[in-house]
Amino acid sequence: MTTTLPQWSRPRTWSADFILVSHGHGDHIADAEPIAKRTGAKCVANNEVAGWLRKKGLEAHGQHIGGGFHHPFGYLKLTQAFHGSMLPDGSDGGMPAGFLLTTPDGKKIYFAADTGLFSDMALIGEEGLDLAILPIGDNFTMGPDDALRAVKLLQPKVVVPTHYNTWPMVEQDGEAWAQRVEKETNAKAVVMQAGDSLDV
Ligand code: NI
Repeated sequence: MTTTLPQWSRPRTWSADFILVSHGHGDHIADAEPIAKRTGAKCVANNEVAGWLRKKGLEAHGQHIGGGFHHPFGYLKLTQAFHGSMLPDGSDGGMPAGFLLTTPDGKKIYFAADTGLFSDMALIGEEGLDLAILPIGDNFTMGPDDALRAVKLLQPKVVVPTHYNTWPMVEQDGEAWAQRVEKETNAKAVVMQAGDSLDV
């Protein structure tokens, strides 16, 4: 008899050069240390979280909201996110962040991370987004309705829903949300599973 683990909890073996840590909460930072140690990846986070990771012996680059830096993978700017950022040991994790990445070939990718809806997403949308990754789980972040409003503000070419179906409190129907996006906006919605990849 075999036991099938939920996809998100299967052992992860992929490699990484950089790990972007949006905030200090355990569901975002708990895997960063073992993955960074296994892969040798450098972490990028807000200055408080980066300092906390360095104390654990990891290589980490600190930035802050509104600031961008030219990394080998592109120009990465930290954006505001409305959420918390306390680290698992109770340390101050600074302000939570999202990420706006401009790749070396000029593609724009916005990862909202954990956040509620905010109208300044329209400013981020002015960049001309090729891809936006938005939470839809509700309770801790935007739910499906606000995430749909976010798509209208951001106007990305492609949108990927995230931060849902990892445990009962954030259960959502990603496919149903994707259908609403494609009916009500010009964005293409792509529902991904852990381990999937997407070419931009
Ligand atoms: Ni969080």
